[in-house]
Amino acid sequence: MAIQQTLAIIKPDAVQRNLIGSIIQLMEANKLVVKKIIMMNLSVNQAEKFYIIHKDRDFYSKLIEYMTSGQVVVILLEGDNAIKAYRDLMGSTNPEEAEEKTIRKLYAVNTTYNSVHGSDSPENARIEIGLFFKS
Ligand code: CMP
Repeated sequence: MAIQQTLAIIKPDAVQRNLIGSIIQLMEANKLVVKKIIMMNLSVNQAEKFYIIHKDRDFYSKLIEYMTSGQVVVILLEGDNAIKAYRDLMGSTNPEEAEEKTIRKLYAVNTTYNSVHGSDSPENARIEIGLFFKS
């Protein structure tokens, strides 16, 4: 097992529904350790930069509007195989396809308002962590 770091975001729909504690509890119960944490409002510029890989998708403007609609919690998580472990814990992007007991199955509203983000690869984890936390 390799210790990895990954970037997690608790998104505005979950913050607005008072789910920060419930989601962090699931992370910790799955042996993911909160190393750094920030609560903030993303600017349009930050959200566009963060989701640049989706800029040509039809949902991009809706995604930027949503991610800047309220506060988010940005978390640097660490643990054994943290990238996959946290993606497994999140469940599928579309909550209707998410496995039982995953964060998205429990809390996501729909494919856009899906409560949480997690880095999908070591390279993206490094980039995403660097957007919010100094090394
Ligand atoms: P996330 O894991 O943060 O990565 C990209 C985000 O875009 C995703 O979660 C959703 O919030 C959103 N998203 C992905 N696919 C779609 C889709 N097909 N329609 C609308 N929003 C989407």
